Amino acid sequence: MDSNQSSVPDEPAADDVATGDPDTEPRRNFVFEMGSLIIGGLVGLVPLLVGLVSFLDPLFGSKKKPRLYADAGGGDDDLIRISSLGALEVDGEPQRFPVIADKQDAWNYIPDQPIGAVFVQRLANDEVRVFNATCPHAGCSVSCVGTAFHCPCHNSAFALDGSKLVSDSGRTNPSPRPLDSLEVDSQRLKEDQEVWVKFQNFYTGKHEKKPKS
Ligand code: FES
Repeated sequence: MDSNQSSVPDEPAADDVATGDPDTEPRRNFVFEMGSLIIGGLVGLVPLLVGLVSFLDPLFGSKKKPRLYADAGGGDDDLIRISSLGALEVDGEPQRFPVIADKQDAWNYIPDQPIGAVFVQRLANDEVRVFNATCPHAGCSVSCVGTAFHCPCHNSAFALDGSKLVSDSGRTNPSPRPLDSLEVDSQRLKEDQEVWVKFQNFYTGKHEKKPKS
């Protein structure tokens, strides 16, 4: 370069030119701080939302249908297989069968939990009587002794057809209703010689037979 030539500095980029406005710098700092605050907040919010979604997911997700079955066989929708007809003695004493089911709520799935029991009696004409074994008074479990059902808690007694019995002493039977009969699948009973029952538990202490959901 010629030494006589005076050097001309490059023109500064427009961005580099200071505005000279004393308000500009604080405003820049404010915008920067707000931006940092918002981004920081979002970064902190994401894990919180992910945790919340996984916590609530069971409430909205698809649920496995719990199985319902008796000791002697499998379940089919609301029906449970209790026994073959041939395994029950004609006009014999009512037989007790536990009912097992899978319990499920939004977060837990617990298989094979006892949810009640039934008494089944085979009659002479190949019909069956089936009762829920829970006492309608306050929910104790009745037993079958000879020709009647008895509840050990407050001495309710029921005939084999489920009707209420009055004690010999005339003491009032505290149960508000007869034993709770259960619906039998008559087609399977007739065609397959098998006892399938619609198992339900009912509210206790009420005169009407009201199924629990
Ligand atoms: S629970 Fe059975 S008589 Fe009270």
